[in-house]
Amino acid sequence: MAQKLLNIKKQKLQPDKVKILVIEDELSVRLGVSCTLEGVGYKVKTADGGIEGIRLFEKEFFDIVVTDLRLPGADGIEVLKSVKNISPDTGVLIITAFADVKTAVEAMKEGAYDYISKPFDPAELLIVIDRFVKHRGLELENISLKEQVRERKQFEHIIGTSPVMQTIFNTIEIVAKTDSSVMIYGESGTGKELVANAIHNLSPRKDKPFIKINCAAIPETLLESELFGHEKGAFTGAVQRRKGKFEAADSGTIFFDEIGDMPLNLQAKLLRVLETHNFERLGGNEMLTVDIRTIYATRKNLKDEIKAGNSREDLYYRINVLPVTLPPLHERKEDIPLLAEHFIKIFGKKTGKPNLTVSPATMEKLLAYGYPGNVRELKHAIEMVVTLCRGNVIESCCLPPEIRGIEIKYVPLICDNLPLSERVRMFEREVIAHVLEETAGKKKEAAKILRISRETLWRKLKEHGFPVSPSDLED
Ligand SMILES: Nc1ncnc2c1ncn2[C@@H]1O[C@H](COP(=O)(O)OP(=O)(O)OP(=O)(O)O)[C@@H](O)[C@H]1O
Ligand SMILES: [Mg+2]
Repeated sequence: MAQKLLNIKKQKLQPDKVKILVIEDELSVRLGVSCTLEGVGYKVKTADGGIEGIRLFEKEFFDIVVTDLRLPGADGIEVLKSVKNISPDTGVLIITAFADVKTAVEAMKEGAYDYISKPFDPAELLIVIDRFVKHRGLELENISLKEQVRERKQFEHIIGTSPVMQTIFNTIEIVAKTDSSVMIYGESGTGKELVANAIHNLSPRKDKPFIKINCAAIPETLLESELFGHEKGAFTGAVQRRKGKFEAADSGTIFFDEIGDMPLNLQAKLLRVLETHNFERLGGNEMLTVDIRTIYATRKNLKDEIKAGNSREDLYYRINVLPVTLPPLHERKEDIPLLAEHFIKIFGKKTGKPNLTVSPATMEKLLAYGYPGNVRELKHAIEMVVTLCRGNVIESCCLPPEIRGIEIKYVPLICDNLPLSERVRMFEREVIAHVLEETAGKKKEAAKILRISRETLWRKLKEHGFPVSPSDLED
């Protein structure tokens, strides 16, 4: 599918007629920008300094120059002036660090057509370039990137028709081809892990290991040995040599989930591995070398974490090369109907109800709700209603009370088109859900509060479609 779309892009858009010169001294940014632009077919050349860039421009015509503001040799402003002197029609796009925005605005007065602040989304860069290309009529066939990607309702198991998700699909396709670090931002449940999977699956490393490590789920003391492995006797309990995640990921990809929760001392050690590709197992002195591509995700704002002293700034710059931001679900409500349909199909199949549809009132409620738990919350809600639903149409009264916007004491009243037995059933479910929430999922405690045996609770949980496991009955 991805390959097919790329081919369409190449045939119709013909961006290969547009030549772009990228001048940037920071290797990761230079690579990120050129891969992004080449990914959609632009013809790209690069220079790592102002003087080299100007020399290249004197020899060859470029439609667009993307230049960093701070460069060794001649800076971005000098580049801009030289370019405009030689070819006034060439568009100059300035890349700037946040602190340089004032100078970037000055540059626009000198004839730059726009500026973009670091770090930026590859998609943001494409939009700015696309705008210039359109403005200059450089596009040969007027099919924009956006129009093309709008055809994609599903991409690598990720559902989304909203413009922002379409841009993200495009970004994933581009960044997957590079070896640069990708940083995925987004609230819990927005699909960060899905995006990380997609990037690995579309990358040249797709047949190599994809190793995940959740920095928030592993206690600080264990995280280090998880990552680096250990030698026999490295610490109490290290009864034999064990390879760590770095070794396991060699030649593949490693995904650091919740990187914002990594302890400071380990951040320093991670940075060293990223810079040198070398490390030692705990308690060992053999230097091991690995070839890994890294992807990171966090629900936190890392700049705030740096300010609060919880994250290292040097690590941040190292890993924040290609940022991808997943917006919360309430900011892309257009995706809700398609997501709901997708989950209904999945859970309908599992529960032997293949022809389920939703009533207009149900869809209205689904669209109106704010989803603090994002797509995960929608998925769980659909799983529940599909399990509970009798008949082929999902009525709004089957939805969890928070989505219906009511408190649980009103549940049996609201279900006014259901027989008494069904209303009682719904009420029972809500009471159990409420108590489980109060006890943070502790089933033994919940059974006590409800004054029923654990076996009865277990049976009821199963009946109502809550996740259960045999261990719920153990002490
Ligand atoms: N766009 C989407 N299309 C289909 N399923 C999705 C989408 N986004 C999220 N999901 C589903 O929602 C659930 C949560 O997604 P995921 O685990 O990727 O989120 P996350 O951002 O990593 O959350 P957390 O921060 O809590 O780990 C998963 O079951 C995933 O399959
Ligand atoms: Mg996750």
